[in-house]
Amino acid sequence: MAPAKYPLLLFLICFTITIPSNFIPVFSENKPIFACDISKNRGLRSLKFCDQSLDVKTRVADLVSRLTLEEKIGWMSSTSKGTSRLGIPDYQWWSEALHGVAGSPGTRFSSLVPGATSFPQTILTAATFNILTFEAIGKVVSTEARDMYNVGLTGLTFWAPNVNIFRDPRWGRGQETPGEDPALSSLYATAYVRGLQQRDDGDINRLKVAACCKHYTAYDLDFWKGIERYNFNAVVLNQVNGKPTCGDPDLLSGVIRGQWNLNGYIVSDCDSLEKMFSSQHYTKTPEETAALAVNSGMDLNCDHFISSNALAAVHRGLLNETSINRAISNNFATMMRLGFFDGDPSKQLYGNLGPKDICTEENQEFAREVARQGIVLLKNSENSLPLSPTAIKTLAVIGPNANATETMIGNYAGTPCRYTSPLEGLTESVPTIYDPGCINVFCKAARIDDAKRIAASEDAVVLFMGSDQSIERETVDRVDITLSGQQQLLVSEVAKVSKGPVILVIMSGGGMDVQFAKDDPKITSILWVGFPGEAGGAAISDIIFGYRSPSGTLPMTWYPQSYTKQVEMTNMNMRADPKTGYPGRTYRFYKGPTVFPFGHGLTYSEFSHNLVDAPKLVSVLLEEGHVCLSSKCKSIDALEETCKNLAFDIHLRVKNVGKMRASHTVLLFSSPPQVHNSPQKQLLGFEKLHLMPEEEGMVRFNVHVCKHLSLVDENGHRKIALGQYVLRVGSLTHFLNVGIRLYYHGNK
Ligand SMILES: *[C@@H]1O[C@H](CO)[C@@H](O)[C@H](O)[C@H]1NC(C)=O
Ligand SMILES: *[C@@H]1O[C@H](CO)[C@@H](O)[C@H](O)[C@H]1NC(C)=O
Repeated sequence: MAPAKYPLLLFLICFTITIPSNFIPVFSENKPIFACDISKNRGLRSLKFCDQSLDVKTRVADLVSRLTLEEKIGWMSSTSKGTSRLGIPDYQWWSEALHGVAGSPGTRFSSLVPGATSFPQTILTAATFNILTFEAIGKVVSTEARDMYNVGLTGLTFWAPNVNIFRDPRWGRGQETPGEDPALSSLYATAYVRGLQQRDDGDINRLKVAACCKHYTAYDLDFWKGIERYNFNAVVLNQVNGKPTCGDPDLLSGVIRGQWNLNGYIVSDCDSLEKMFSSQHYTKTPEETAALAVNSGMDLNCDHFISSNALAAVHRGLLNETSINRAISNNFATMMRLGFFDGDPSKQLYGNLGPKDICTEENQEFAREVARQGIVLLKNSENSLPLSPTAIKTLAVIGPNANATETMIGNYAGTPCRYTSPLEGLTESVPTIYDPGCINVFCKAARIDDAKRIAASEDAVVLFMGSDQSIERETVDRVDITLSGQQQLLVSEVAKVSKGPVILVIMSGGGMDVQFAKDDPKITSILWVGFPGEAGGAAISDIIFGYRSPSGTLPMTWYPQSYTKQVEMTNMNMRADPKTGYPGRTYRFYKGPTVFPFGHGLTYSEFSHNLVDAPKLVSVLLEEGHVCLSSKCKSIDALEETCKNLAFDIHLRVKNVGKMRASHTVLLFSSPPQVHNSPQKQLLGFEKLHLMPEEEGMVRFNVHVCKHLSLVDENGHRKIALGQYVLRVGSLTHFLNVGIRLYYHGNK
């Protein structure tokens, strides 16, 4: 529940992510790209913007004052045009680092750096519910990014993380996100961004690399039943309806810069201005589109729209130089903080890093550790897992994902250091017999007889099913959330004839309706492994053979297939509507049946929770004359002055009462009084503990009434509901009343 220490850089909505066909990367291997190279041009020494002893604002203002209008416009495109007369090279802003440095217009791999550490896809990292892990991944990724920058293979601006709420189980990009819960998503984002940006010398005015949160708002549909995100008008609140985000001054200047105090840059998604003009027809001319976006608060444009149209917009009086100066000042300030204008990077912090520091044993081992922490044990009847590596003489390994490599790294991935497939991982512990069962995850025609034959003869069976990028990805939403084709048939038939335990492993980004497997007594265990990254197979083997206990926790609801029939993907409402039968979205609002709920996850041990200390009553102090003091109110506004010091601690004792050392995720939920159609349940905080058998640990949650307990009413206003809250950790419940009291001046 730590507050965001550093403001997030914001990557804006928008619509597509196609690489412009005319883009030619500018790379000079072995040499990083930087400005103010005094060894080449001694005259630069006297220019203020190259002077590191001055503050960023002064340096930026100096630089902006030296540029012509055309040069300025060149710095509003992601493929920025350098200003060679001032010793400033071209710069490509677009690099990606969602879960490892990834191939992108600004980044490439070469013989010098053939790969980078590829962590699990974000959705599995989120399942670790471990803030230290989120930050540590960011730190490794930014170090490897700096290594690659030093040999001219990447820039310093990365468009990650993806923080959209995973609102619909069919969304192809749900895998990129930290799941469906806003508290988990924000804690993930702040930790990952801190890991990317924070320098080891603690200088908060400088950045190690620049992160960028995407996509701004109401963004969780790619391509579903013919509806494309390029033209989809997400109807959420009346402020958003019908307005392209890139042309919305309330969202860009009002919310991000105004309320959130962003001090970074705002970039449009790629092609979004083009779409705004030519397919949404929001503006009449391209110049109007360019002017509207910049005037609304966009600083940088991914694509060529601004570079082609901004000058004409100025000449027509639609756009002025003041707005352009604001935009490029934000862009330059980011580059200043990255050290881009500080001359030779080899003389600066991180300057001695290079290819030797990428894909280190330590980094690769950490990728394996993250996967171990994230893997979720969904079912384990009769403690069939872990398997004993000595008792199991041979293992049947079946399924289209059993020997997965590329599938394990999901999308927005780079080239990994190496792969350990599940088959390879398991074979390190016991002899295996492998049959893919189907040629691919679509599994149009399963080879059931071959699979049954090996299942019947071996001591245990592990089935690797699920999806890959051909089923769920950017531009591909699912229609069904069951296992594809004959996967289910294959699993059930194999289970029937198996003589030992049957372990079903689902490798996927989104949840799957595997109710059949949950109900089938022959299927003894189910694991969800997300897309587990380059070392995924090793981590899966570590869990299956009990070298580690699983401790992952689902960051999203697993819905039944019937949900896809009840809910249009285009309906953005979170809340249920009894009038239309709409069941609502996510564990906060959806009351219908689930296959597995948000927060589900078993371990090989058992944990007990005891409440040590928690208040029964919290009073909100109100000024004399407040209307709620004289008449009955169901809620009060969560205003800044009301919220001051309104926090309390919940103190718990957690004990490992099982037989195995294990990590355990402690989730604190609150069910608020039912006013304003409020969520039935919401996550207030979480903590991850690692305990030996019989060991006890203490957990203290600091709950802030306005930040954590408050809810948003039907009009988007933050309220504190008055009445009884039910707080829950595991099976433990605690009742808390939130009431009101008159505030006496000088008396407290
Ligand atoms: C420039 O344009 C912006 C946005 O339309 C406007 O707010 C501002 O007053 C203009 N500045 C000048 C100097 O004309
Ligand atoms: C597993 O996949 C790897 C990499 O694609 C391949 O080299 C290997 O032959 C596969 N193993 C089997 C048993 O098919």
